[in-house]
Amino acid sequence: MIGRTLILKTSAWKPVERLVRRSFLFRPLVKRFIAGDTLEQSLPACEDLVRRGFFISLDFLGENTATEAEAIQAKDEFIRMLNALAESSASKQPRPVPFPPGKPAPGNGNVESCNISIKLTQCGMDQGVEFARKNYYDVLRVAQGHKTFVRADMEASSYTERTVELVTEATKEFDNTGFVFQSYLRRTDDDLERAIELKARVRIVKGAYLEPAEVAYQDKKKVDEQYVKQAKRMLKASFYPAIATHDEKIINELNAFVAAENVDRASFEYQMLFGIRRDLQEKLLAEGYNVRVYVPFGNSWYPYFTRRLAERPANFFFILKSMFRG
Ligand code: FDA
Repeated sequence: MIGRTLILKTSAWKPVERLVRRSFLFRPLVKRFIAGDTLEQSLPACEDLVRRGFFISLDFLGENTATEAEAIQAKDEFIRMLNALAESSASKQPRPVPFPPGKPAPGNGNVESCNISIKLTQCGMDQGVEFARKNYYDVLRVAQGHKTFVRADMEASSYTERTVELVTEATKEFDNTGFVFQSYLRRTDDDLERAIELKARVRIVKGAYLEPAEVAYQDKKKVDEQYVKQAKRMLKASFYPAIATHDEKIINELNAFVAAENVDRASFEYQMLFGIRRDLQEKLLAEGYNVRVYVPFGNSWYPYFTRRLAERPANFFFILKSMFRG
């Protein structure tokens, strides 16, 4: 946790950002985590993953638009992504995964092979909630036409309440959007129960931002315990939950739970990030689990990249060592 805090704090300094952006030493890692600078560059990676049996969620990197014009540009890019995915072979792979009986299924009754993840601060949350809502709903309407799904990523805790409210209202009008909840937040047990009542789709993650103790557990063991408890609750009660983690110990525990409780493997999916634990992604897929890979692209990779470094400080310290070795 100390390494994580140090990396997140240091990387927020502008001189460090300039250094990382310019240094060729970081290039291989950036390339490993990010599928391309443009939508066109990222599509082959999506198509390849779907051809191999994975699902994907495409993410246009960026957060916190500074003007309304920037937010509208981001919205236009989301719509371009939805149209491009609908046209690409990634959406044409026949991979029917029936939804559990008695539960409403979006689109054609199968899980979509491709969907997108967006951030509500990219839709213009800093310019106003109503403005962000309009952009978000415009994206949802296009996605509905393509029978696909839009996940609203969860950001820093200063946005949690507004994000939960916006997504809650959206799920009452649309069947193709859902939440992300972070196990490190103290409020998540309550948010999760409300989402279960709404029959909304939820992705559960541990949480990637630097948060104060008033809102978030600081102890990794406690966060892991919350994660396992919440994931099990979702596997039993929630509507097509997404278990997003690379934590193999937790995944093994959840797989044992799924077997013991007769949870249908088609009724949930694992999710992992592009370029992280590819061996585990393959293993789960081969064992018959649904696995969705989160595929980010775009030039605004810096904040996403530093969160990935912070999750595994060994990556960062390896690069530092190479720098000092010259
Ligand atoms: P943990 O950090 O404990 O790592 C467990 C193991 O996984 C490590 O020991 C290592 O082997 C491997 N690992 C993890 N991260 C790695 C890395 N960067 N490089 C190499 N190995 C690594 N967060 C958020 O706040 N809001 C969000 O909307 C999302 N969305 C999201 C979508 C998806 C599909 C995923 C997988 C994750 C997110 N996250 C997120 C990020 C999440 O909160 C969390 O920070 C990361 O998933 C890392 O936590 P793990 O659960 O993997 O466990």
